[in-house]
Amino acid sequence: MDAQLAEIVENYVDAHTDDVSLLLEELLAETEKITGRSRWSIGKVEGKLLQMLIKISNTKRVVEVGTFTGYSALVMAEALPEDGILTTCENSREYADIARRYFEKSPYGQKIQLKLGPALQSLKAIPDNSEDFVFIDADKPSYGIYFDEALRILHTGGIIFVDNVFWRYKIFKKKITNENARAIAAFNQKVMQEDRVEKVMLSVRDGVYLIRKL
Ligand SMILES: C[S@@+](CC[C@H](N)C(=O)[O-])C[C@H]1O[C@@H](n2cnc3c(N)ncnc32)[C@H](O)[C@@H]1O
Repeated sequence: MDAQLAEIVENYVDAHTDDVSLLLEELLAETEKITGRSRWSIGKVEGKLLQMLIKISNTKRVVEVGTFTGYSALVMAEALPEDGILTTCENSREYADIARRYFEKSPYGQKIQLKLGPALQSLKAIPDNSEDFVFIDADKPSYGIYFDEALRILHTGGIIFVDNVFWRYKIFKKKITNENARAIAAFNQKVMQEDRVEKVMLSVRDGVYLIRKL
């Protein structure tokens, strides 16, 4: 698909998807102002997709790897039931402080527990078979390790949702030179070869992998 058509499709998809809450829009604007990296946040369409998945799978317990300023954590917390719990992992204090500020502003923020520190360390502390849903969106070279941990902490039927599996379309190059793109390509292959899961890759935004533990 050429770039112009891709943009037309993206705009059309956006225009035919419900809006997120005003607080999330405010968070995105402040994220851009402070960090200049609002593109790291999943944004509206992927956010609404996550909300839909959480609702239709009756998810109560979510683990997120990569909080950044809290957009995806808040979007998921909005979709969780009253007694839902979302654990989110972030190793940057600067980003975590912004996220915490917005969790406090939100009526859904009390469902969120932020773990500051290396995500792997936080994941290791989570018991086996205890979670319903894992969202992976942090350092790309560690995706394989996060996936293994996700398989351990999820119960049978639990869902793994992975962001950026196209890595800005760099994985489609004949010769992949970008380090993150290489890591993502290896990760996608690992998932494809894993028979303890069923999976579907979706061309939403920068590519997402939707995986279910068998
Ligand atoms: C793409 S951003 C996450 C965006 C977020 N999910 C959203 O949609 O709003 C990735 C985040 O992972 C964090 N991160 C990277 N490596 C990490 C690690 N080893 N442990 C914890 N967090 C990490 C980065 O600091 C960054 O904030």
